[in-house]
Amino acid sequence: MSSLTLPEEAARRRTFAIIAHPDAGKTTLTEHILLAGGAIRAAGAVRARGENRRTRSDWMKIEKERGISVSASVMTFEHDGKMFNLLDTPGHEDFSEDTYRTLTAADCAIMVLDAAKGIEPQTLKLFEVCRLRDIPIITFINKLDREAQDPMALLDDIASRLQLDPAPIWWPAESGNRLRGMVEVGTGRFQPYTRKAAGSAEDPEHPPALPLDQAAQYFEAGEQDNLAEAVELVEGGYPAFDRQAFLEGHMTPVLWGSALRHFGIDELLKAIGDWAPAPKVMKAKKESPPETRNAPAPVETEVEPGSNEVTGFVFKVQANMDPNHRDRIAMFRMASGAFKRGMKLKVQNTGKSLSVNAPIMFFASDRELADDAFAGDVIGIPNHGVLRVGDSLSESGVVRFAGLPNFAPEILQRVRVKDPLKAKHLKKALEGLAEEGVTQLFRPEIGSDFIVGAVGQLQFEVMADRLGEEYGLDVVFEPSPYAEARWIAPGAEGSDADVEDFSGKYRPQMARDIDQAPVFLAKSSWETGYVGERFPKIAFTKTKERG
Ligand code: G4P
Repeated sequence: MSSLTLPEEAARRRTFAIIAHPDAGKTTLTEHILLAGGAIRAAGAVRARGENRRTRSDWMKIEKERGISVSASVMTFEHDGKMFNLLDTPGHEDFSEDTYRTLTAADCAIMVLDAAKGIEPQTLKLFEVCRLRDIPIITFINKLDREAQDPMALLDDIASRLQLDPAPIWWPAESGNRLRGMVEVGTGRFQPYTRKAAGSAEDPEHPPALPLDQAAQYFEAGEQDNLAEAVELVEGGYPAFDRQAFLEGHMTPVLWGSALRHFGIDELLKAIGDWAPAPKVMKAKKESPPETRNAPAPVETEVEPGSNEVTGFVFKVQANMDPNHRDRIAMFRMASGAFKRGMKLKVQNTGKSLSVNAPIMFFASDRELADDAFAGDVIGIPNHGVLRVGDSLSESGVVRFAGLPNFAPEILQRVRVKDPLKAKHLKKALEGLAEEGVTQLFRPEIGSDFIVGAVGQLQFEVMADRLGEEYGLDVVFEPSPYAEARWIAPGAEGSDADVEDFSGKYRPQMARDIDQAPVFLAKSSWETGYVGERFPKIAFTKTKERG
């Protein structure tokens, strides 16, 4: 049992995610952060655990074959008096929706750049999501052990393309074969780099830091003076780190290193511990479940992380984590309170009550039952389909956080099961996957087709695989006549009658989503524009918030 107060427990949480373009080194960095945090003993453990998991299901087989990570999870570790929750985001852009939802549960993001490549397309996309949600960003420029771009060019790129002030915390002393180490800007402390510390099996220790002017043994003739000059220029040319500007999303501290060679990782972990925000006050509504009689009108409220009531929301539902149990685990990000095992929580939008008897904390090496948890923590709640992505849970059952958005899919396909006797099974399976947020499901008002929507092609492959593996259904995806899906609702000038009128006129193209919300399936983007102009009283939207 902790001797800290509730607000103290909340204040020592650091819940963060790593964003990166594929191959920039996210997985390697995750591993080495866990190593630096003392959560694992040898690098390779995360991957090995992944391999274990992967051999057990076809879904995971896809991950392996494609060398991508599609399942987002969380890893928790305690280090230096702080609790770190590292949220894993899928790197492949076809799973961007998943990543987006995971980022709603993060208080800070680590943006990993490959020192030779700088900002890449997927970095930019993920960055935009962080900006949208005002998530502060720490930049880690990776792979210094290889030939890198000019460090100033990398910082200028951040400034010009991300409109973010880079504040170099360290400055690299060359890169690749000439990498000598790095200097702390402002203090002149030099952290030497030693090549010996490569790979997973060897001791990752680098020599201790020392003042740059006492570090001659690490340099060849002239290098030390050049570096001292460069650092002077950097100190004059870039703004000093300002935590407030960072928290407000105007500034990013920039750290450097090599994940593979465990260089710069302790410094990064310290930066996260020192600067990343603790869980923040969250805006929510107090609102009775929809069916409640004589319910009072919803009121805006603010949830303090250190307040007593347990509240939070589900940002992901993960199936298949344990092949022995056909369980689904809802990833619940706590916003406030002190959670105790066995506690009863209520789901705001259904009013259902849930005894959380076997909550799971995800420590790097294993899953453990969570006895208690606080704001910022993520616990896995096993359930059989009661919990869905976007659900708000609380002790009172009336706290509702802004819903996680659904995005209009970019590909719409028809799905058919080869054995017609299994159509009913298919419906259930598709609903299950849609509830998990894997894909979206649209049921046309006319006919018996199922239209499945996804952001990328890979999602269909994952889905076909899971339908086979978990539900024993052999399915085929076929092209559908639709190109776009738009949720419809009365516009500013419109009413429900206008929606009905529109739905009547376009009945063959109307469908319902998993929440029974009306959706218009357009045959082309031209048609979306056309109906938009013809029916100005209707709002056609690309995103939908549940609830
Ligand atoms: P991702 O999750 O962002 O996709 O990247 P991942 O960590 O899998 O790293 C991509 C490749 O980059 C891997 O090489 C990895 O070893 C390498 N890498 C990561 N960090 C560094 C670093 O600091 N320095 C160098 N030199 N390489 C780094 P791979 O050959 O594709 O895979 P593997 O055979 O090493 O596993």
